[in-house]
Amino acid sequence: APTRDLTGRHVVVSAGGTREPLDPVRYLGNRSSGKQGHALAVAAAARGARVTLVTSAKPDLPGVDVVHIETALQLRDAMHAAAADCDVVVMAAAVADFRPATYAPTKIKKTHESRPDGSADESAPTIELVRNPDILAELVARRGGAATPIIVGFAAETGDEDGSVLDHGRAKLERKGCDVLVVNEVGEGKTFGADDNTVTVLRRGSDAAVEVGPATKAVVSDAVWDVVVSLF
Ligand code: C5P
Repeated sequence: APTRDLTGRHVVVSAGGTREPLDPVRYLGNRSSGKQGHALAVAAAARGARVTLVTSAKPDLPGVDVVHIETALQLRDAMHAAAADCDVVVMAAAVADFRPATYAPTKIKKTHESRPDGSADESAPTIELVRNPDILAELVARRGGAATPIIVGFAAETGDEDGSVLDHGRAKLERKGCDVLVVNEVGEGKTFGADDNTVTVLRRGSDAAVEVGPATKAVVSDAVWDVVVSLF
């Protein structure tokens, strides 16, 4: 039987990729499957937590309260509402950094409005984007100096000439101001949609780096909760 070390705790987990609508039939999205976030929710419930999962997927997870969202702005509202009354927030969602500046209430046509001379305009439209809010940073700002909720972020990083995956992770942890950052290396077939994951769990103010995997997303989830529990 799992340790019931999250008994009496309310944890809020976000998962999946957001979908940013262009018109009634189209959206900008990403390849996040939501599997890691869903595994975190299931693992927390098994450890005794009350779990709210805010996700763009439609999972049927026993013992988990699922709030369905599609867009980053809906995710933001749901996270702020849930975070007001919880012990831990985990932002595992892949939030779109940008959304279309306008939503067309009717389907955008291949051939759009005719020119003054009556001919059809068949040029490709340009999609203007605007930035989405950084929800994780907002949750940290809203917490202010309070000790709770504990806030966990995720970072998908690739190593490059500016530093290793871990260097980027440490810098992001400082920049975002969250308590824990789960760093995963992404690229060719790694992480997105896969059943296994390899991560490094970093804590702010500590040099410790917990490496997990390649392991199932369930095993990765328990390692993340272990670190969170150590912060209570
Ligand atoms: O900056 P980056 O997108 O790499 O940060 C990833 C972390 O920030 C994840 O925890 C993700 O859920 C969160 N995030 C967010 N709002 C955004 C973008 C990312 O909360 N607009």
